[in-house]
Amino acid sequence: MPTVHDRTAESLLAFWADAGVDAMLLDAPVDRLTAPAPLPFRQPGKTTDPTPASPGAQGLVAAREAAATASTLEELAAAIAAFDGCPLKFEGARQAVFARGAPDAELMIIGEAPGAEEDQRGEPFVGRAGRLLDRMLAAAGLESRTFITNTVFWRPPGNRNPTPAEQLACSPFVERAIELVKPRMLMLAGGAAAKAVLKRNEGILSLRGRWLEWASSDGATVLPALPTLHPAFLLRQPAAKKKAWSDLLTLVERLDRPERRS
Ligand code: URA
Repeated sequence: MPTVHDRTAESLLAFWADAGVDAMLLDAPVDRLTAPAPLPFRQPGKTTDPTPASPGAQGLVAAREAAATASTLEELAAAIAAFDGCPLKFEGARQAVFARGAPDAELMIIGEAPGAEEDQRGEPFVGRAGRLLDRMLAAAGLESRTFITNTVFWRPPGNRNPTPAEQLACSPFVERAIELVKPRMLMLAGGAAAKAVLKRNEGILSLRGRWLEWASSDGATVLPALPTLHPAFLLRQPAAKKKAWSDLLTLVERLDRPERRS
């Protein structure tokens, strides 16, 4: 018969599981801010240099090459799944999580990283935060006009934030998704997404609600980008929903504004 202590422990574990925590602390600390260990990138037909001068740069080149070969979103999803250059792939993720939504969407939402439910189901934003995001998009009339992805495609262990190095390794795929979907604007959910995609250092509370610009790596494409609060933050701080709703209305207003023709 379970004691009151068992029930307390069970309820505490359920609370943490619900919050996405499913890993215990490691014995030794891990510095996730330094450059990743040599990437286990494998290119068919080429021998791997055992001492690459810059493994991060090598991984980025590989990601760019892999992303460039994709001429459809399906091919891009397959290229991501086959890509070995992001260390997150080897840190316990079950599968790659790429995207969901309209393939010709006017709006692309870029979140931070898949969580536990996303890892299980293979789609972004399908957990509690995703359900809140969907309700907000539906209320703003945007549900069928949106394509949703993340800055990285594998779940970070314990739901930690993705590191800048992990985001950099995945960035060519995010850029290729933008090229293929051709959205008119971007919405960046959360500080980790806004900083990585816009290459900014400010915190999300200073970035949110401001129109900024995203530029492709060759500078040929420039899109308006609006950072906003992450829906997971809104679940923890419901009072902040007002700010996120105001950001969404700012976005809808611009999306529905008639485009000026010159
Ligand atoms: N949070 C994100 O940033 N992305 C997801 O896909 C799920 C939760």
